[in-house]
Amino acid sequence: MPNCAVTVRNLFVQFGSFYAVKDVSFSVRRGEIFGFLGANGAGKTTTIRVLCGLIVPTSGDVTIDSEHFIKGKESYIKQKVGYMSQKFTLYDDLSIEENLDFTAAIRQIPAHIYSLRKKELFEFIGFDKRQDVIVADLPGGQKQEIALIASILHDPKIVFLDEPTAGVAPASRMKFWNLVKKLSQTGKTIFVTTHYMDEAENCNRIALMRHGELIALDTPENLKRNTYQKQIYLLTPKDKNCQKLLVNQSQEYFSMFEPYGQHFHAIVRDDIDDEEMISEVADICHIKEIEPSLEDVFVKLVEEGVTK
Ligand SMILES: Nc1ncnc2c1ncn2[C@@H]1O[C@H](COP(=O)(O)OP(=O)(O)OP(=O)(O)O)[C@@H](O)[C@H]1O
Ligand SMILES: [Mg+2]
Repeated sequence: MPNCAVTVRNLFVQFGSFYAVKDVSFSVRRGEIFGFLGANGAGKTTTIRVLCGLIVPTSGDVTIDSEHFIKGKESYIKQKVGYMSQKFTLYDDLSIEENLDFTAAIRQIPAHIYSLRKKELFEFIGFDKRQDVIVADLPGGQKQEIALIASILHDPKIVFLDEPTAGVAPASRMKFWNLVKKLSQTGKTIFVTTHYMDEAENCNRIALMRHGELIALDTPENLKRNTYQKQIYLLTPKDKNCQKLLVNQSQEYFSMFEPYGQHFHAIVRDDIDDEEMISEVADICHIKEIEPSLEDVFVKLVEEGVTK
């Protein structure tokens, strides 16, 4: 499909007798921010490693920028993609500049292009400090921003970001996502994994993996609209005592009852009318009808293993 940056058809990746990716199919449109979500071990990084030409799939068909993945021709893919890996981003004991020089050398970027590109990318992330700072001395957020520009130094069409904000402070996470959005506006396709649901809201579409399988794929809005057939309530106990009472009664009234800070997200059991629940618990808590959050959606989909 010409308007697709990535297509994956019936992808399987096997390690010994274990399948890390099982019959996964999806496509990523050019220019979209595509979120790839799932619990630890769901198969996200393994899929990314295939799409970056780092491992050969057991079976399945993959295209990157309309070209088929062919064993032995992985270097073609490597030119098209930028990869910010989950475990390793930069050499801690090298300076910012040394890290970028090293990446430019590996990518065989000609010196005059590298120098222009570096300037452009420092401007892009708003970095105007010394480049001889050792990476280990950078704050987490800034390190990830430098890692981002290292991954796009060769100007790839598709950028894979594997948990780029893991362990980064909230304000820096937001700044990083502003860069991701800005990058997407320049026409790059972004394929990103995250465990943070607030970040997932920024994606045009989200794929959800569970035990190596793709169990949902849609826009955040559609996932929220379509996953629940029933109303979700936000319950706020009036005090500590009321909270205990509510928790004790939860199984009697609710099929879902999840704590959210001081509140609870709840769905009434099928055999009980919503009005009945409201009249029973109105004395002990405030009740508000709410739209499901992405977190609600994922809890439900992952628990049920709903098929796309
Ligand atoms: N080279 C390998 N050899 C054997 N098993 C592997 C290998 N790489 C990954 N796995 C296994 O495949 C499964 C999927 O791993 P993967 O790293 O793709 O998950 P993930 O979704 O990225 O998880 P996380 O959120 O923790 O990063 C895990 O059970 C993992 O242990
Ligand atoms: Mg991973």
